[in-house]
Amino acid sequence: MGKYVIAGNWKMNKTPAEATALIEAIKPLVADAACDVVVGVPYIDIPAALEATKGSNIGVAAQNCYWEKSGAFTGEIAADMLREMGVGYVILGHSERRTYFGDTDATVAKRVRGALDAGLTVILCVGEYLEQREQDITAEVVAMQVKIALEGVSEEELSRVIIAYEPVWAIGTGKTATAEQANEVCAQIRGVLAGLYNEAAAKAVTIQYGGSMNAANAAELLAMSDVDGGLIGGASLKAPDFATIVAAAK
Ligand code: 13P
Repeated sequence: MGKYVIAGNWKMNKTPAEATALIEAIKPLVADAACDVVVGVPYIDIPAALEATKGSNIGVAAQNCYWEKSGAFTGEIAADMLREMGVGYVILGHSERRTYFGDTDATVAKRVRGALDAGLTVILCVGEYLEQREQDITAEVVAMQVKIALEGVSEEELSRVIIAYEPVWAIGTGKTATAEQANEVCAQIRGVLAGLYNEAAAKAVTIQYGGSMNAANAAELLAMSDVDGGLIGGASLKAPDFATIVAAAK
């Protein structure tokens, strides 16, 4: 895994046929990328995405997974199922999962465990709500999310963890954190990792920023010292915009 990772989070967008078309459009535009490139697609698009990315430099991520290996969990998908298909990454703890689908720090931690056990690389999402930023507890909130999610994760396993700092107030709102705000929290996250592991391990972790990152603001955000990539929603659905963000990551 390289240090810089640009990942698209398509959320609940694109049918399988549309996924193929979007990846075919992205592929030539990112072929010379200096960073790792990932597309996070709906479960149902995974076969099409794996087929379309075959032989390319684009990895495929799922947007969630369950923590049990199998059993009576109607509607859920196990990490091993994703791994067997050839999926390399899974986005976990996204604020939309936390806000709309009941994920908590504790359930996110279980998902992280299940995903790492299956051999997946985790993109762990953390971030504060607007009220929490206004109360000046961003650092505490994010530290707690990171610490709980990484409970029991070894230093060796940490090499398969990417952390995405996504302030909830910046997601889908067009309201990006300033480069300084993004960098400040990414640096705080790195400090938490240094406390949990050590400086070298913390330094090696890819910490992404996410939240209204786009073709116009990506270069400034990605130039910051502690921002090692991006998790991109809306702009990842437009091939030229996504490619511009990928090109800005070097
Ligand atoms: P937007 O880029 O649409 O704000 O979404 C960010 C996000 O939630 C990525 O996971």
